[in-house]
Amino acid sequence: MNLGPGNIPQAFPYQGSKRKLAPAILKCIPQGTECLIEPFAGSAAISVAAAWRGRAHRFWLNDAHCALISLWQRIIHDPDGLSQDYRHIWEAQHGRDRKHYNEIRAEFNRTHKPELLLFLLARCVKAAIRYNRKGEFNNSPDHRRSGMRPDTMVRNIHLVSEALGQDTRTTSYDYTVVLKEATTDDLVYMDPPYQGVCKDRDSRYVKAVQFDEFVEELDSLNQRSVPFVVSYDGRTGDKSYGKMLPNELNLQHAELLVGRSTQATLLGRNDDTYESLYVSEAAVERLGGMPRGIVVAREKTQTLFD
Ligand SMILES: C[S@@+](CC[C@H](N)C(=O)[O-])C[C@H]1O[C@@H](n2cnc3c(N)ncnc32)[C@H](O)[C@@H]1O
Repeated sequence: MNLGPGNIPQAFPYQGSKRKLAPAILKCIPQGTECLIEPFAGSAAISVAAAWRGRAHRFWLNDAHCALISLWQRIIHDPDGLSQDYRHIWEAQHGRDRKHYNEIRAEFNRTHKPELLLFLLARCVKAAIRYNRKGEFNNSPDHRRSGMRPDTMVRNIHLVSEALGQDTRTTSYDYTVVLKEATTDDLVYMDPPYQGVCKDRDSRYVKAVQFDEFVEELDSLNQRSVPFVVSYDGRTGDKSYGKMLPNELNLQHAELLVGRSTQATLLGRNDDTYESLYVSEAAVERLGGMPRGIVVAREKTQTLFD
């Protein structure tokens, strides 16, 4: 059975998923964590991986996008019903793919039903959630694929549901609300939207994450000795994307190799792409030092969005 990187199941396809980096990021989640909290859960690749590998006792998935959290609630509490709904929607597309997709999209925009979102994510271009000005999901279908086959989806949904367990908490708050409840026994893993993507722009569903506010929130976690790990942009070659988190937060800054930039390869350069991973002092203490194999980054890089 091919489950993906590190043989870990994926609940659903999602642009920006940390699925490929999960085996590396998992090394920074201390064994025996009481509750792993993901304030920016998306497809919760890190919580799923931690559940799969038994690294935390409980999980809290939060995302400001309400329909996504409704989808998580069905995955956790009604995997059979959700699987049946997906199979039904998926099978109904044959022979009228584009029309069917448009109908499901229109129905989702009216009802926000999670099973419709699951189909749209499986079927749309790059598994990306995009809304227009009116707040309607407007991404197009990927004409090269018909979306994850029901048997594969059903298997994944059940594996993920079982791994996370019924105790998993699901909420749809702004991340700042979640951070207030985190304690020293927890580990908060944060993967906010890329700085370039959300700069100064609130969508109808999701409030943008402002850099200064985010830094203040991390400072408050430090003051309360709450352990945390943050994925925050990165660099290709010498070019960094977004601002780096400030030194005053006393974080260990590591870089995880993501891949080779296709543009750089075309230009004959070998600029590898790295994603930044920041580990708080309290987390490093709980880990007993930075894990082996996690490369601590160079000090200075140039930023693109200053
Ligand atoms: C980069 S994605 C997280 C991807 C996730 N790590 C995964 O493996 O799929 C960022 C997520 O943050 C959510 N988000 C954006 N702004 C937020 C906010 N202010 N509070 C909570 N969630 C937010 C988005 O809806 C999106 O799902």
